[in-house]
Amino acid sequence: MIIAIDGPAGCGKSTIAKMVAKQLGFYFLNTGSFYRAVTYAHIRRGGDCTDRAACLETARSVDISVRDGDIILNGEDVEDRLHTKDVDMNASIVSSDPELRILVTDLIRRIASGMDIVTEGRDTTTEIFPDADYKFYFDASPEVRARRRIAQQGGNQTYEEVLDLICKRDENDRNKALGALKIAKDAVYIDTSYLTIREVCEKVVSVVRPAHC
Ligand code: DC
Repeated sequence: MIIAIDGPAGCGKSTIAKMVAKQLGFYFLNTGSFYRAVTYAHIRRGGDCTDRAACLETARSVDISVRDGDIILNGEDVEDRLHTKDVDMNASIVSSDPELRILVTDLIRRIASGMDIVTEGRDTTTEIFPDADYKFYFDASPEVRARRRIAQQGGNQTYEEVLDLICKRDENDRNKALGALKIAKDAVYIDTSYLTIREVCEKVVSVVRPAHC
């Protein structure tokens, strides 16, 4: 079974998807990690992330798999290196290339095949798993997402800087030629702005469970 969740950066998808997966005994698959892994591999090679052909070449030449929820790049667990500021900014550029997206989408589908998964990203409900059993779209205002990010990560960025970065990423995610962030017509829309993580998790589980108990 596939439960797919899309939504903009910082709307709580990962945390909630992980919680739902744990409750249902499903595997959690974060699709953004695959784009982050390609980006990380490319940066590590000293590559330019705006060079589409070079990024595609990196994506074709690396081996990416998943072990216990961690991303394995050429046999090495790189999970804790995928959330740096550098990877954050460049993953948005790298994931804009339609050809690279086709490659990553194929890989994600192969990894997910035969498993019960809760997956999340930007196009899991529209492109990667258009026939998912359950689809959700999580939303939250940019201001709420910026405040959450600051509370989670601290750091030395101001609220205005974080808000600006979120708005730029939203724009990039919504304007991709392929895999643009949009609400699937058959997705359940949840505004998480004023809900706790637990409340959102309960909403998702309440949609999925009745049909499968
Ligand atoms: O969800 P995240 O922030 O870890 O995603 C990393 C990047 O990958 C982000 O720029 C959006 C992009 N992404 C995508 O284009 N399609 C997906 N299905 C998941 C993430």
